[in-house]
Amino acid sequence: MRSRSFLFTISIGAILIIFVSIRTERTRQETMHGFQYAAPDETFDEGELRERDRELLAKLAKGGSTERDKRTQTIERLYTLDSEDAWSRHIEDLDDEGLPALTKFTQRYIYEHQHPKSCKDKKFIVMEAFPNDESFGLGAVVFSISMNLNLALRFNRILIFNPKNGPGRHFIDPSSHELCGNSMECFFEKLSSCTMDDLTPENHFSLPAREVIDQDIMNTPAGAIPQIFGIALKRMYPMMTPDALKYWWRGQSISYIMRFNARTMAELLRKRRDKALHKSLSFDGHDIVDGSSVPFPMPAGSVSMHVRHGDKGIEMSLKPFQEYIDAAEGFISQNPMGYRKIAFVSTENPEVLEQARDHLQKEHELYKVVNGKARTTSDWAWTWYWSEIPRANVGPEQQLETFGNRTDMTINWFLQLMMAIECDMMIGTRGSGWSRMLDNLRCGWLGKCQQPFFDVGDPQDWIFYGI
Ligand SMILES: *[C@@H]1O[C@H](CO)[C@@H](O)[C@H](O)[C@H]1NC(C)=O
Repeated sequence: MRSRSFLFTISIGAILIIFVSIRTERTRQETMHGFQYAAPDETFDEGELRERDRELLAKLAKGGSTERDKRTQTIERLYTLDSEDAWSRHIEDLDDEGLPALTKFTQRYIYEHQHPKSCKDKKFIVMEAFPNDESFGLGAVVFSISMNLNLALRFNRILIFNPKNGPGRHFIDPSSHELCGNSMECFFEKLSSCTMDDLTPENHFSLPAREVIDQDIMNTPAGAIPQIFGIALKRMYPMMTPDALKYWWRGQSISYIMRFNARTMAELLRKRRDKALHKSLSFDGHDIVDGSSVPFPMPAGSVSMHVRHGDKGIEMSLKPFQEYIDAAEGFISQNPMGYRKIAFVSTENPEVLEQARDHLQKEHELYKVVNGKARTTSDWAWTWYWSEIPRANVGPEQQLETFGNRTDMTINWFLQLMMAIECDMMIGTRGSGWSRMLDNLRCGWLGKCQQPFFDVGDPQDWIFYGI
């Protein structure tokens, strides 16, 4: 008797469970399709507000337009740096938490090493143009200088450019030689307070080496870093990988090497503010709108997408633009309050901008449709921004040849760099030196190291990059 009523209870229970779970499944499906709990698409009406709320809103509108947050101030300040001192103060003033470990210490150390009280009795490394210099992109040039800066610090020598024949000379237009020489010092602050005048036959050697130089120097691996920093970092993080150390050093060294000089920075700011130079594409709820203003700076939570195509297929597999979009959308749907569907796109491939338009068209079609993917995110549609600079889907040297003034074209690329690091989230491929450079500089110049970077490339690109 007992066992029978027990069985009875069990079966009632089972039926109940099945019943409840059918119901829950249905409710879940309805919710998924937005029938019940989706947020309503309300029309908000100011006329229905109480007087006091209207006053509050009026105040908010006033305050909002003049108040500049710290993020904005820092980015604006970056564009106005006009001396080595201003650069040093800028870095010292950044919040430590967003900087790579030991940044302030390292930047001071490099500066002091390169600026001795006297250049007498010092030894030097002079950088000449690399053999095959014209095939170096900007990333490859600055990362090669980074390798030489390691040698200089390790072996207690001061690193200088040969200003008449330095690495990266193909980035400088012949019309600029008189004004700014023929090395990257056309764009950057001088590496050192010492000059070619301080050289004697005994106190220097040149790189690439044309003579026999010390075996120690010859045998230093390309990915090595100055000892002092290796020791300091390993004290903090005993298990830090060699490749993370290398990545750290690339960032520190180029943050120093690439400090734009006053002339370059003024030109960057001018171009940044030039309305004719920038374009946008967005969806306003009715139409896809072509615009010509890019907010300065790029808004908090915006995304930088650097799509490296051109000749890079020789070295790595090129990723379709859709993969960049997917990576961004995946992350934004998980973090809709932190990040927005607002992107600055830099690329040498004009087709990418066509694809951005196509994607916007798809979002247009999904507008207000009760669709999980379209709604579980920050904005209905992307706002795309880019600069209207000459583009051709070829390598750097061919671009320089195609577009005339090399100095001007190079500054356009640096502008793309600056606008990319204004953004918060970053999507790129570390197989491209340019992408690594963007990541390194947003860390070192703006303290954005704790913002996400998505690598849509192959995992080994993270470490096995050439230079
Ligand atoms: C090339 O561009 C640079 C930098 O904008 C400028 O100073 C120079 O005068 C230009 N050269 C010519 C020939 O226009």
